Amino acid sequence: MNSPQCHKCLCEYNRLTEARFWTRILMEHALFIKLGLAPNETKLSAEAQGFVELFESLLNRLNRVKKLNPELLAELIEAVEAIIEFKAKVLRLIIQCEMPPGSNYPLLLDHIRREAERFLKLLVSPMAEDSLALLLQQEVFWLRIMKEHIEFIIHLLDPSERELLKQAHEFRKTFSRLLETARDLDSMAQTSPHRFNDVIQFTQNVIQHTRELRNFKAAAFELDEMCKILGIISDPLLLDHVRREADKFLSELDVLLPEVERCHSSQNR
Ligand SMILES: [Fe+2]
Ligand SMILES: [Fe+2]
Repeated sequence: MNSPQCHKCLCEYNRLTEARFWTRILMEHALFIKLGLAPNETKLSAEAQGFVELFESLLNRLNRVKKLNPELLAELIEAVEAIIEFKAKVLRLIIQCEMPPGSNYPLLLDHIRREAERFLKLLVSPMAEDSLALLLQQEVFWLRIMKEHIEFIIHLLDPSERELLKQAHEFRKTFSRLLETARDLDSMAQTSPHRFNDVIQFTQNVIQHTRELRNFKAAAFELDEMCKILGIISDPLLLDHVRREADKFLSELDVLLPEVERCHSSQNR
């Protein structure tokens, strides 16, 4: 099922679809944290492994059900709250220099904490929102995520990977620019305009660049799987993970853009 879904200019996320997507993502976050911990952090490593297993079992259950029943929803909310706290704890320990960072970048920990917070919000208070406001909120959220993915890739590639790094730096510039514009448009949209044609063109631009980024991530994943990339990427799965997040962003834009075109644009002035 599509998520979000729109009806009469209001759009709402589908909790089961979101849960299936994000539960796998959170399972992988726990794995990435574990792989990035310094070797002597055995207690945190066991805690991370516990989260891998918890989210794996929740994912298996989510794939079997047709509806998100209250019991499963409650368990899911509890698990997401717990992993948010775990990510915050690891980040805090690093910020306070109370543990060696291993290869977990502080910004990566904050990034995956924000992704989990977003999921929690969709689970706890799913709300139908106006398509224009929702589109811009999603662009602000996801463009920041996309920009950070590029920054992580830049810092995980070997300095000798100059061709890939050159492409990644171009993407970083483009996505920084897009994010800044999304924030401006989101702010302007808080005046509740009936129509906002500029957002349509901006979003078409976002779609085009996100498709290119998605393809870059997919290609990097294939290269890494074939052992054709030099760097310190702990597992090629990380590249597949960020590719799936780009696809999720694109699938949301696919729903929201036509609705905004229908509800908030006009051909004439
Ligand atoms: Fe993620
Ligand atoms: Fe991400």
